[in-house]
Amino acid sequence: PDTTNNAVAPKATAATLITNIAGLVTNDPSLGDGSPLGLIQDAALVIEGDRVVWTGESSKAPATDNRVDAGGRTVVPGFVDSHSHLVFAGDRTAEFNARMSGRAYEAGGIRTTVAATRAATDAELEANVVRYLREALRQGTTTFETKSGYGLTVEDEARALRVAARHTDEVTYLGAHIVSPDYADDPAGYVALVTGEMLDACAPHARWIDVFCEKGAFDGDQARAILTAGKARGLHPRVHANQLSYGPGVQLAVELDAASADHCTHLTDDDVDALANSATVATLLPGAEFSTRAKWPDARRLLDAGATVALSTDCNPGSSFTSSMPFCVALAVRDMGMTPDEAVWSATAGGAAALRRTDIGRLSPGARADLAFLDAPSHVHLAYRPGVPLVTEVWRAGAPVV
Ligand code: NIG
Ligand code: FE
Repeated sequence: PDTTNNAVAPKATAATLITNIAGLVTNDPSLGDGSPLGLIQDAALVIEGDRVVWTGESSKAPATDNRVDAGGRTVVPGFVDSHSHLVFAGDRTAEFNARMSGRAYEAGGIRTTVAATRAATDAELEANVVRYLREALRQGTTTFETKSGYGLTVEDEARALRVAARHTDEVTYLGAHIVSPDYADDPAGYVALVTGEMLDACAPHARWIDVFCEKGAFDGDQARAILTAGKARGLHPRVHANQLSYGPGVQLAVELDAASADHCTHLTDDDVDALANSATVATLLPGAEFSTRAKWPDARRLLDAGATVALSTDCNPGSSFTSSMPFCVALAVRDMGMTPDEAVWSATAGGAAALRRTDIGRLSPGARADLAFLDAPSHVHLAYRPGVPLVTEVWRAGAPVV
């Protein structure tokens, strides 16, 4: 196949050529080896402004003013972490310790973080977001989604979204994380708040609306009411679905054309079929199963059925306190039946699909130039060498940031 996609001819000026790339993952199957990863060996890449304008074999690279030698490293698209909860304060070390001594994970632990988050200043929340997004960036994440959900009052939810929106366009309103402790005896009243005054305050700051559809959080009818109200305000749905038990979350996500059903740990055959026959991505969050010692989601079953699978961190202080996409890739390969190629695709192109984005998660002409350089001869090393800091350089929108 022609690996020198010249559809957008690079200008000789102001372009940067990155050459001597051992393996370039483009996620464009029309390039390179023709696999879903569109892998080009001995590759080069040309960037102009914030965009990729050319990818192909080093020997065919055009002349440019600026030249960067990748030194035989591997380049993959920057990771797209389509599910995180970074606006919080405090941590839950004691709860983690108790779990590792045999206690089960329960949604109720969220209340501990709600109390700490309400008590925090804006500056403390912001510092936390910056800390974890920098941590993620150092590990190759160039796009992240993040949610509210630890405020659960009109003011605290809106504040969380304002803080998040200063750092990402992918902001999700999760007022329906659990029923606020202030409404413990009146869940219907809390749903009315989430779909009324709280939605009014939050909608201007968010792109997405999410619900934790689970026993101990919100049932299918409550979740439908909340997501439908959000849709009417121009927010697009995504759902925390089927994490701790079988339930209606996945079917509801598909019914409402949610961009993503997240967790997908407990799925019936009907749930798998529904995902496979829809545009709803199954986002798997292996950090959560790792940190709660729960059963692994079956990525193999979803992929074999034809569903689109994304991998994300779910970074939060309760169920999954990791910001590392490489760690999630390694877990998905070791324990969820994915091949290294599939896991790398899901952590990049899959995440982009879960955010309904086509400008990220790939490295072919027209894409945003978000690159993670791996000090490794192949992307397979992300799974083969777990826990090793292989990401040695990161570019975002055409410029080095790490
Ligand atoms: O995605 N499932 C619900 N929410 C988070 C956990 C939040 C917490 O425990 O603080 C999750 O796993
Ligand atoms: Fe989550």
